Amino acid sequence: MTDDKWANPQKMWDERFAQAEPVYGEHPNAYLRAQSRRLIPGCKILVPGDGYGRNGIWLAAQGFRVSTVDVSPVGVERARKSAQAAGLTMSIEEADLATWNWPVGDFDAVASIFLHLPPDLRPQIHTQMLTALKPGGLLIIEAFTPAQLQHSSGGPKQAELLYTAEILQKDFATAEVLELLEVEVVLDEGRLHRGRAAVVQGVFRKQ
Ligand SMILES: C[S@@+](CC[C@H](N)C(=O)[O-])C[C@H]1O[C@@H](n2cnc3c(N)ncnc32)[C@H](O)[C@@H]1O
Repeated sequence: MTDDKWANPQKMWDERFAQAEPVYGEHPNAYLRAQSRRLIPGCKILVPGDGYGRNGIWLAAQGFRVSTVDVSPVGVERARKSAQAAGLTMSIEEADLATWNWPVGDFDAVASIFLHLPPDLRPQIHTQMLTALKPGGLLIIEAFTPAQLQHSSGGPKQAELLYTAEILQKDFATAEVLELLEVEVVLDEGRLHRGRAAVVQGVFRKQ
């Protein structure tokens, strides 16, 4: 990795989430919100890498049974406080997804939103996301593509952390592709995700 921050990514996320402002906004990710129409009311959803909880908390407020996992203790603490303030019951766990004891066949959906993993971990963790799903379960993902390097609307600056449709197709090869596209969107998700952005969006169904 070229950026020193990636020597200790947890520290970087902690610093980010210690800022008073919600750096990715208070509202859920727009793609997740749009794709939630595919989800059965009240179903069980895993949100890995949920930061300070904006997506998990929104899903829980919609009546889904939500579990989140994030490596940042600052993000996790903030998510727990927000969930408590909103009167929501959900599981919010602090763990590194690389060493987490991943559940098997337990979830109806997994939502991976801007969770950019290094190439030595990404395929393993993406496989574990599918393993965590029940047969027929959905995996919803949005991430930045290499074209995002031309934009200043957020995302990693290291090309190896960026995803393409081809990468996701390989990582989730055992699943059915319901939707997979590289698109330009206009993000309005807090100060760090704002403006024209190049993303890959996908929905996969475990067979
Ligand atoms: C760009 S933030 C996105 C946060 C959230 N998904 C959102 O959209 O608001 C990436 C998140 O992934 C988490 N993360 C990165 N690597 C992780 C790992 N190995 N295990 C657990 N969480 C991780 C970070 O702590 C951070 O909260």
